[in-house]
Amino acid sequence: MRMSLLFAPTMKEDPQEAEVASHRLMLRGGFIRQLSAGVYTFLPLGWRTLEKIIRIVREEMNRAGGQELLMPAMQPAELWKETGRWDLYGPELVRFQDRRGRDFCLGPTHEEVITDLARREIRSYRQLPLMLYQIQTKFRDEIRPRFGIMRAREFIMKDLYSFDRDVEGLRVSYQKMYEAYCRVFSRCGLRYIAVPAESGVIGGDVSHEFLILAESGEEKVFVCPSCNSATTVEEALCPQCGGFLEEKRGIEVGHIFQLGTKYSEPMKAYFVDRDGKEKPLVMGCYGIGIGRTMAAAIEANHDEKGICWPISLAPYEVVVIPVNMKKEGHRQAAEELYGKLRQSGFEVVIDDREESAGYKFTEADLIGFPLHIIVGERMERNGRVEVKLRKTHERFEVQKDDVCELLEKIRKELLG
Ligand SMILES: Nc1ncnc2c1ncn2[C@@H]1O[C@H](COP(=O)(O)OP(=O)(O)OP(=O)(O)O)[C@@H](O)[C@H]1O
Ligand SMILES: [Mg+2]
Ligand SMILES: [Zn+2]
Repeated sequence: MRMSLLFAPTMKEDPQEAEVASHRLMLRGGFIRQLSAGVYTFLPLGWRTLEKIIRIVREEMNRAGGQELLMPAMQPAELWKETGRWDLYGPELVRFQDRRGRDFCLGPTHEEVITDLARREIRSYRQLPLMLYQIQTKFRDEIRPRFGIMRAREFIMKDLYSFDRDVEGLRVSYQKMYEAYCRVFSRCGLRYIAVPAESGVIGGDVSHEFLILAESGEEKVFVCPSCNSATTVEEALCPQCGGFLEEKRGIEVGHIFQLGTKYSEPMKAYFVDRDGKEKPLVMGCYGIGIGRTMAAAIEANHDEKGICWPISLAPYEVVVIPVNMKKEGHRQAAEELYGKLRQSGFEVVIDDREESAGYKFTEADLIGFPLHIIVGERMERNGRVEVKLRKTHERFEVQKDDVCELLEKIRKELLG
């Protein structure tokens, strides 16, 4: 991609409305724009990063045995009345009536819809276990939408639902998902912790929250520095090792629940078991906030100049910066590198704009490309370019022809 063509409207000044770094940097870097409180457009750079998170999530859900489907956002009230949540959910539920006066809502989550599907289609234990998921837009009229896409009113979530014959089966499905979540957040390049949690409105017995540690986090957690175990309830000593717990703050990016028969009983989602008896399906549900994961990645990876994307989430991996577009030597060498890197499978941007070098460096730091290649005077003097690592500020001088090889090595190291 050429910077001269890229639709990434950046901002020089800090936007007033942004209270946290991720919100501020996503606006300034041209990743998102607000349409209404808690409602956002993802611009091309923002959408590329979001898509990368989606791809990782999809691969890991498939690897764990999940099958992807897509359910409607528009849901009839009758289903929600069956579980009692039409009344319980309160004003967070976006409700409306169709032209015939029938009540509907825009799904904040899909337990009712998936349980309705299951009760119609799952008849026998032979169809179990089953894991179905979607990556889809959710609606919640949050009392306090804030921090940009971190707490939005319309946001993309991955929600998976597991169906088993019994509690032992549920435990196996839950464990698979727990491990899939660990892989998702590691592949995103994020340091996460999993804590046993309260299950709130969704209900059920066992549940875990996956948190990214960040000062701006809304959740209080107590982490043991010696054994790394964590809880949401304050305890005098670490129950695992006896050490002292440290109070930290975290951002909830994922939540997994063992629901049991909380939805299948009231909605009569039964199957015929091996012994010929009718039994309620034993369920679990598992959510990941895609946009919130993007925001949390920035909270955990930025400095005073801008975003320092983990390479697996960066909208582009490399930016090639010709220092002076008026100099044929800079321009040509940069174009040549741009072509070569693309051929070697890198996601590259060339900053081919007739702007000052300082301006281009500042924007490259703000947007947070992990690898910068600077083509300037050295090119003319001795055929060398500068490679800069955004996060660590490390700099290397290399011969133009050795750039691809070096970047491949660095990329491998960054991916871990
Ligand atoms: N308003 C929101 N904006 C963006 N992402 C959200 C929002 N609400 C929930 N999520 C994401 O969806 C995931 C699954 O939803 P879940 O119902 O478990 O959230 P929740 O417990 O209501 O979250 P919170 O306590 O932050 O309101 C959450 O872990 C989070 O990553
Ligand atoms: Mg909530
Ligand atoms: Zn401990």
